[in-house]
Amino acid sequence: MTTTPDSPAHEPGHEPGRRRWGLPRRRRRGRRGGRSPLHRRVAAALALGLGLLTMSGLYTAVTADVNQARAQEADAALLARGQELYNSNACISCHGSNLQGVDGRGPSLIGVGDASVYFQVSSGRMPLARQEAQADRKPTLPIFDPDTEEGQANLDALGAYIQANGGGPTRPEAAGEALRGDDPARGGELFRLNCASCHNFTGRGGALSSGKYAPTLDPASETQIYTAMLSGPQNMPKFSDRQLTPEEKEDIIAYIYSVRDGGNDVGGYGLGGIGPVSEGLVAFIVGLMAMVGFAVWLGAKA
Ligand code: HEC
Ligand code: HEC
Repeated sequence: MTTTPDSPAHEPGHEPGRRRWGLPRRRRRGRRGGRSPLHRRVAAALALGLGLLTMSGLYTAVTADVNQARAQEADAALLARGQELYNSNACISCHGSNLQGVDGRGPSLIGVGDASVYFQVSSGRMPLARQEAQADRKPTLPIFDPDTEEGQANLDALGAYIQANGGGPTRPEAAGEALRGDDPARGGELFRLNCASCHNFTGRGGALSSGKYAPTLDPASETQIYTAMLSGPQNMPKFSDRQLTPEEKEDIIAYIYSVRDGGNDVGGYGLGGIGPVSEGLVAFIVGLMAMVGFAVWLGAKA
């Protein structure tokens, strides 16, 4: 191999072929040396952008922490309020200081969930006044009246407190008319399959064994019907979302509302809504009179 001293590839101290991977010497030097104004500006802009990004990142991190801390404080306040309501409305005397229940007075409330609390308290069943075969619906305590803002807030707090001890089913997010499904006919079928054996075909209720009864569903609100299904008070079975999906529950609610106030009567009088007995009687009397009338008319013609 012959080398020519003036060839740039063979400057003293440089191995031949090195240039293939490295940058040309002059450009390298230019880079290493003092930066061009353009480079400096770009670098400054980058640094500024990076700084801003870090700042905003830090800011969101810090404020997220603050928001989270505030949410936790709000939760703690809600639970404290719920416990206070529980202690001051006699719940504690029958259900115990740790919701564990009191022998001969009331069952444990651990794991019954917010849905059960809402159903029991908003329908006036709780606080129970005296021990009976069954807790009856009665006027709601005014501080738990779901039609007032204060009542709603108190029900929320009480429910959250009991929910925090063992979980359990919770109220649906929607309320009022939003809980009425759009297929009352399907709701009617589901009602006949799942509810009519105790509550009668039109939700008027009926007697059960041992002095117990399934009540009429007329006074129950949408949320109360929904939470009754979720919590299964007394002898009533629980209908979890696997047994009846939320949509099916809403259709059942739509059906119950559609048969209220005689809404299910296709015309004429309700006849007490007790089915074939009264209808048969009416058919019998009207039919008999028609036949007598026909006989009289025939006789008059002869
Ligand atoms: C005089 C005793 C008594 C008082 C006071 C009382 N309860 Fe009850 N509670 C009972 C009994 C008994 C039952 C079971 C009722 C039944 O099966 O019909 C019950 C049932 C319940 C249930 C249903 C549990 C379940 O398995 O789903 C809830 C929820 C409840 N009570 C909450 C409360 C709350 C909240 C208060 C206070 C506002 C309260 N109770 C006050 C005796 C009481
Ligand atoms: C095994 C009988 C039985 C079946 C089946 C049954 N329930 Fe009930 N239901 C009861 C009893 C008993 C009560 C009263 C509980 C109490 O007072 O503590 C009740 C209470 C209710 C209430 C409360 C009414 C009020 O006073 O506000 C509603 C709403 C209700 N049931 C809806 C339903 C629906 C909807 C179904 C079908 C998906 C159903 N029930 C199936 C026995 C039954």
